Amino acid sequence: MCGIIGYTGPLDAKDILLNGLATLEYRGYDSAGIALCMEDSSICVTKKVGKVKALKEYCDQVVKGSSHSGIGHTRWATHGGVTDANAHPHQAGRVTLIHNGIIENYHALTEQFGLQDELVSQTDSEVAARVLDRIYTGDPLMAIRELMRLVEGSYGFCIMFDDQPGAVFAARSVSPLVASYTRAGAMIASDLTALIPYTNQYFVVPEQHIVKLTPYKVHVYELDDTFSKFYPEIMTVNWNMDAAMKNGFPHFMLKEIHEQPDAMKKTILPRISKGLPDFSDDGIPDSIFMDCNAVHIVACGTAMHAGMVARALMEPLLRIPVTVTIASEFRYEQPLIDEKTLVMIISQSGETIDTLAALRLAHSCGSKTLAIVNVKGSTIARESDYVLYTHAGPEIAVASTKAYSVQLAALYMLCCRMAFLRGKYTAQQAADFMTDLLDAVPAMEVMIAQQESIRQIITHIIQSPDAFFIGRGLDYAFSLEGALKLKEISYIHAEAYAAGELKHGTIALISDQVPVIAIATQQHVFAKTISNIREVKARGAFVILLTKESSVVDDTLADIRIRIPDVDDRFTVFPIAVVLQLIAYYASLGKNLDVDQPRNLAKSVTVE
Ligand code: M6R
Repeated sequence: MCGIIGYTGPLDAKDILLNGLATLEYRGYDSAGIALCMEDSSICVTKKVGKVKALKEYCDQVVKGSSHSGIGHTRWATHGGVTDANAHPHQAGRVTLIHNGIIENYHALTEQFGLQDELVSQTDSEVAARVLDRIYTGDPLMAIRELMRLVEGSYGFCIMFDDQPGAVFAARSVSPLVASYTRAGAMIASDLTALIPYTNQYFVVPEQHIVKLTPYKVHVYELDDTFSKFYPEIMTVNWNMDAAMKNGFPHFMLKEIHEQPDAMKKTILPRISKGLPDFSDDGIPDSIFMDCNAVHIVACGTAMHAGMVARALMEPLLRIPVTVTIASEFRYEQPLIDEKTLVMIISQSGETIDTLAALRLAHSCGSKTLAIVNVKGSTIARESDYVLYTHAGPEIAVASTKAYSVQLAALYMLCCRMAFLRGKYTAQQAADFMTDLLDAVPAMEVMIAQQESIRQIITHIIQSPDAFFIGRGLDYAFSLEGALKLKEISYIHAEAYAAGELKHGTIALISDQVPVIAIATQQHVFAKTISNIREVKARGAFVILLTKESSVVDDTLADIRIRIPDVDDRFTVFPIAVVLQLIAYYASLGKNLDVDQPRNLAKSVTVE
């Protein structure tokens, strides 16, 4: 979590750092701070609880003079509460340091170096700063290498030394860092969005390497005895700053909901050849789809929910076991996987720590891994055997929307290819499936166009502290994401339930006016779902029913009915996802909450 940025070059460092932090804020927003190397070479640290906006205002008051190098941090608190003292940067003697990650052995280091009486914060990061100061004898590379040997855990560090004016050092293990020499100078950040205003070229800082930024160059060093230079692969990003701006929308989330049809097309269309899904340009061989006898999908949060939809689609079609596991469980579970299991890893950011650990575990079990990732060059993308990039562009709102749709699109295409290769679909059936998938795109547009009418129903939801999402089969899988979205940004307690399971306890919670969002788009269980809806209605629930346009239901069944276009049953998730996202968006707005940056959350979960 946490956003970090470092800069050195000809421009005003304060502005560059503060602007960069504003774009990184979705990674954490408990506090923010910058350290500037001033013209007299002194280091000026300014930090404050709250968002980057508050830091900017504070800097305008207190920072006098100009500076051309510095480091900045926006925090998602792990160790130590949300206080000014715990905000980064941390200063210790000649060292000023910011950190993204967790130093697991900070207690042991505190004792080993006798730091107990020196610490002014409760953070693991300050311990790293103090240890570094203790071992620093004037050679930054030697000291950082020693620090890296001492600390256990995950880190992206940016560091300044009092006696190295104009230089910014960095190192990483697990936590992401990207860097570039740009037209504005040398820059490093936890995330590309901070670099994009200045360049479209960057490199991923390799783990267990040290980076030194000067106004004229960026050097990467190995940790060997002579600090050999390492020349990383330069990558080009294919989106520009517009993609990371609100562009007239009040929130990133609404903008990203609107971007879904386009993102779907960008993800699907280049991968259709002769009407069939084709991954040869992605370098994914058909053999991995034919040689496996099981699929195991591993992911977290929304990405895991995309996996749940894929499971409900794949298993009945492919007739092989398809399992979905939450990555934080999978990694400690001794999963039943082997070289005949195709492990699909799903991650928007490609940096989620549990998902990354799951990927590594899958490798150690001999499984082939295929990652569905949005961020190019991210750790999961680099470490998996094969990667299928989704083309959603940058997703800035903490609540995932377009990433979910394109993950689904990728999974649907994979399912189709597997069905074709394994003889479950003829070429014609596979081509029809792809046509149906593309037909889901205008269906999403239809639902986006209905956003105002969806907004109208929100009053019924925000009056209640609880809400339930119910459905069967694929509809149940969609419900999971609907409930997560609502919880995440409206703070309404929401639960997704398989409609047939309600009677086994949960229906006790259904009383007068409790909102139940019922999804009934699957024909083979339609009548059963309708019966379950009647049961909650009979107990006073306020029912918001989501069905296909042509479904016939009697008027007394629901208080509100939202109709989606008549796409094939397997593809209803796409328009339904839009509806569920809009419900959550307007609920958050209706409660005057921070839609894009909900409390306690961060976009990229890079700590356990
Ligand atoms: O970057 P990832 O896809 O690996 O992230 C996984 C989850 O943290 C993420 O989907 C999270 O659940 C979303 N904020 C939900 O909207």
